[in-house]
Amino acid sequence: MSKRVKIKHLIKEGQPGEKVTVSGWVRTFRQNRFISLNDGSCLSNMQIVVDFENMEESIIKSITTGAAISASGEVVESQGRGQRIEIQAETIEIHGLADPDKYPLQAKRHGLEFLREIAHLRFRTNTFGAIFRIRHSASFAIHKFFNDRGFYYMHSPILTGSDAEGAGEMFQVTTLPLNDVPKTEDGEVDYKQDFFEKATNLTVSGQLEAELGALALSEVYTFGPTFRAENSHTSRHLAEFWMIEPEVAFCDLEDNMNLAEDMLKYIIQYVMDHNREDLDFLDNRLQQEEKSKPQHQRSPMALIEKLEFCLANDFERVSYTEAIRILMNSKPNKKKKFQFVIEEWGADLHSEHERFLVEKHFKKPVILYDYPKDIKSFYMRLNEDGKTVGAMDILFPGIGEIIGGSQREERLDVLLSRMKEMDIPEEEMSWYLDTRRFGTCPHAGYGLGFERMILFVTGMANIRDVIPFPRYPGSAEF
Ligand code: 4AD
Ligand code: MG
Repeated sequence: MSKRVKIKHLIKEGQPGEKVTVSGWVRTFRQNRFISLNDGSCLSNMQIVVDFENMEESIIKSITTGAAISASGEVVESQGRGQRIEIQAETIEIHGLADPDKYPLQAKRHGLEFLREIAHLRFRTNTFGAIFRIRHSASFAIHKFFNDRGFYYMHSPILTGSDAEGAGEMFQVTTLPLNDVPKTEDGEVDYKQDFFEKATNLTVSGQLEAELGALALSEVYTFGPTFRAENSHTSRHLAEFWMIEPEVAFCDLEDNMNLAEDMLKYIIQYVMDHNREDLDFLDNRLQQEEKSKPQHQRSPMALIEKLEFCLANDFERVSYTEAIRILMNSKPNKKKKFQFVIEEWGADLHSEHERFLVEKHFKKPVILYDYPKDIKSFYMRLNEDGKTVGAMDILFPGIGEIIGGSQREERLDVLLSRMKEMDIPEEEMSWYLDTRRFGTCPHAGYGLGFERMILFVTGMANIRDVIPFPRYPGSAEF
């Protein structure tokens, strides 16, 4: 057999007369003659023409949807429509059979819910192939973006004894026997006997550690899994998701917004440049789906149109105070159509408000900044007014919040008094406070929810469909 070539390469470069081998999984086999083979390198399949009269019957019988095969032969110009070249098979090797009576994926469109139940096989569909190739591209783009700008990739810990971020409920990590937990004399859990000799959790964010790195390396970013044990059953929440958290020294809130907007646009552009076939497929798929919806529920833009729009326009930058004014004067608020009606300045914004601002009012991505300190984290920098902090959230159409970030409080005295206000024990945070004691400087950063970004660029509706194996309440399959 000749050397294996990937189908993506063959489609682009293959010339009639070449001898090649392709390996992959059979999508369809028609008329005992035409195999559509997919190897995951791209959305397109390679057509392989079998001369069934000169091929062993047992081999012909084994070529069924889902079987893994290698086919060797000559590249020829395709007689049929839809492809430039095809392979005239000389030999076919069967690696793995797929019993057609049992193989759950048929050559038809399956519902996403069903595919979620067979997440171990859904990689083999066009839709999930496209999603996971795009997911790869987007993560590569993120590394490239930061690397090109001189940021260092920093690995923040997954297991942590720090509980100060307050970003969400944490998953506890322990090796203590759950059916016989050792107790202290006061009846508390005796963590001294636990693996780390203290209570530990899975991290909800790498930010606090990234700050330590930034205050020496100037510009760092983390890109890792984060865990939140919130009982959210929405299409935007996962219990395990990936977050990108840049942290930059000598940087204020405006620089931070600029970095975030540049990064988001860079990722979109990268995917447009490198995944066009997959995007076209998903765009098409979405348009089919939209057709089955009533007019008023259809989205105003097709996928690629939406991505192009996002690239071509500046994000709207609006203060929280201005956003509250807009929301209080909005129809759904006045008519009490919001589930949470906004009564006054200081109210926390829910996803319905964020989406109103983005989708109905501004009709473009929005950066909200300067939030009331009482609804934000202790580490955000207090503004002159004493009421707001230098926070920023980026809101995207169809998604809501995609990024949350802030300028950090670099002044030790202000930070300490904020911690006191919020009951955060100083002793446990001494390592964090040391950066403010020694060589503190203005700095800022943010966190991008990776899966929310993938939702946006793929146009998918449910976050469980853009991560290979989603974890959510009641489900940690595979
Ligand atoms: O707004 P969050 O909680 O911010 C932080 O954790 C900061 N420490 C980030 C920083 O400043 N370095 O989370 C950041 C982003 C959100 O905007 C959202 O996109 C995503 O993480 N996110 C989730 N994505 C999926 N499932 C969840 N349960 C998520 N919770 C937050
Ligand atoms: Mg947030």
